[in-house]
Amino acid sequence: MLAGKHILLIVGGGIAAFKALDLVRRLREREAQVTPVLTKAGVEFVTPLSLSALSAAKVYQDLFNLTDEAEMGHIELSRAADLIVVAPATADLMAKMAGGLANDLASTLLLATDKRVLIAPSMNVRMWDHPATGRNLATLKSDGVLVVGPNEGDMACGEYGPGRMAEVPEIIDAIASALADGPLKGRHILVTSGPTHEPIDPVRYIANRSSGAQGTAIAGALAGLGADVTFVTGPADVPPPAGVNVVNVQTARQMLEAVQAARAADAAVFAAAVADWHVTNAGDSKIKKDGSGLPTLEFAENPDILATVSEMKEGRPKLVVGFAAETDDVIAHATAKRVRKGCDWIVANDVSPETGIMGGSENAVTLISDAGADSWPRMTKDQVARQLAQRIAEAMT
Ligand code: C5P
Repeated sequence: MLAGKHILLIVGGGIAAFKALDLVRRLREREAQVTPVLTKAGVEFVTPLSLSALSAAKVYQDLFNLTDEAEMGHIELSRAADLIVVAPATADLMAKMAGGLANDLASTLLLATDKRVLIAPSMNVRMWDHPATGRNLATLKSDGVLVVGPNEGDMACGEYGPGRMAEVPEIIDAIASALADGPLKGRHILVTSGPTHEPIDPVRYIANRSSGAQGTAIAGALAGLGADVTFVTGPADVPPPAGVNVVNVQTARQMLEAVQAARAADAAVFAAAVADWHVTNAGDSKIKKDGSGLPTLEFAENPDILATVSEMKEGRPKLVVGFAAETDDVIAHATAKRVRKGCDWIVANDVSPETGIMGGSENAVTLISDAGADSWPRMTKDQVARQLAQRIAEAMT
């Protein structure tokens, strides 16, 4: 899948830079062509010689190096690549990218490119948790930059938490998804997935039962067909797929905000099991069982994200797909829901407890569109996802 692909690998100055050497080897094993770019700080962690030996290519380091410019200008260097990978992406590199700075070779290449960019952040946990890094990450995601990791674990600095660079196989998976060629290449597709959690107090919440498995499989299948996927997910049981732009949310109102903040999409799939209500008198501190009686919760309706997007006057995705999880009269209810919500397609499924679909690995769905109801045989959620992605690809061409 990676054979013949040209990857421009920017190695930033972080302790995880040593993993970039293994990344180069694994990419070469897969017959990808790697052009390394080493930042000034990166040189403190890995040598140009080892990068050059492993990649069998010239290592670029300076913006104002006349020999390099004569060989290949920096604009061309970034345009020649199929994908730009930044590993490790330090807090500083992320800040430069988010701010659009171009004061060294790496940042200039990142600003000059029209290619997709994948970053593998790596930094101390406090730097990762700092609001400035959070803002930069949000900006980068909304610019369409793909992110893999970071993972949680022991850090070289002796602390524990999120900030460890993703492992090489995870980065390779993300690169493969980002480079996937297919009928959806160049299309931006939004997918919502998972449940939402609506707080009652800081320790309790209400939610719908949802593992996020079907939405995750759909996002992965769309990315596999080459789509650029923004994956807005509530707290799911399963990890997000590789090669998609993940936006984590907790509540329905946050999910709506994330959907509205995303770039205009060509299609949108609403697979999230959004809670219908939120608690308006949620406690700021834990509600105590102090014998003073039972708490009374007051509810307000959550925004209907699917209906809001379906009704958009400007920038509505060409294809809006909703889900209808029903326990009785599945097709009749789903057909009415399609009209009520204003979406183009509804994927209906029977989630009665005896079906074992909720939380299970299989699904039996009916696709309802203008053309009528098309019932698919029971199959795995991955197969449903691939078939749906294929249908979406056909509808988009
Ligand atoms: O109304 P109901 O929850 O059955 O609708 C299901 C469909 O609507 C799903 O596609 C779900 O993701 C979407 N939905 C939504 N926002 C809500 C409720 C449902 O996007 N507040």
